[in-house]
Amino acid sequence: MEQTKIKKINSIYFDNKTENILSELEKTREDFWNLDRYCANFLNMLIKINNSKNVLEIGTSNGYSGIWILKALEEMNNKGRFTTIEFWEKRQSIARKNFTLCSNIKAEAKIGSAIIVLEDLLNEVNNKKREKYDFVFIDANKKEYIEYFKLVDKMLSDKGVILADNILSHYEKTEDYVNELFSRKDYQSQIFDIGAGMMLSRKAI
Ligand SMILES: C[S@@+](CC[C@H](N)C(=O)[O-])C[C@H]1O[C@@H](n2cnc3c(N)ncnc32)[C@H](O)[C@@H]1O
Repeated sequence: MEQTKIKKINSIYFDNKTENILSELEKTREDFWNLDRYCANFLNMLIKINNSKNVLEIGTSNGYSGIWILKALEEMNNKGRFTTIEFWEKRQSIARKNFTLCSNIKAEAKIGSAIIVLEDLLNEVNNKKREKYDFVFIDANKKEYIEYFKLVDKMLSDKGVILADNILSHYEKTEDYVNELFSRKDYQSQIFDIGAGMMLSRKAI
């Protein structure tokens, strides 16, 4: 029997205000390079399944995926914190507004080039001014994924999770990231052929 591909989700219904904002953002998805709802739902579920408390996103855009992250933290009600990085000020300011409208959790929206901001965050983690991250979503400059990983690895908690987008759509740029993760004995990884191709990696120690 031929296998039927069912691309359907049963995502939870957020409050009306959040649903309206998500629907509006979905209309301009291509301009802001946002995840589709299918992958956003996956992201939201993973954060909850991992019971993540501190979540970091690299690549905020207008905040679409960030809203799904905030909603996961809100649902878990675990005093979770969300940090997100974007170098395009206009996008970051739209995202800040969207976060405030959709969630009571205050997002820590960092402006700047991802590698520089990650270095600052790592310094804070090393100086015990910041807790390690339990979940990192990588979705910025594809060529830099490997550099993000080198920094993220040092501030990821044991059994922490990394989800990276555009692995298959930009494989020529993400290949060194993929090879590094697959070669690491301390990470368990798998690529999911959903959306633009997402790689899920779990720190095994
Ligand atoms: C694919 S979009 C993020 C989409 C968002 N995660 C979502 O699904 O709603 C990537 C974003 O990363 C930003 N970006 C790209 N390179 C960056 C860098 N080196 N540092 C900081 N932000 C960067 C871009 O301006 C863009 O808004």
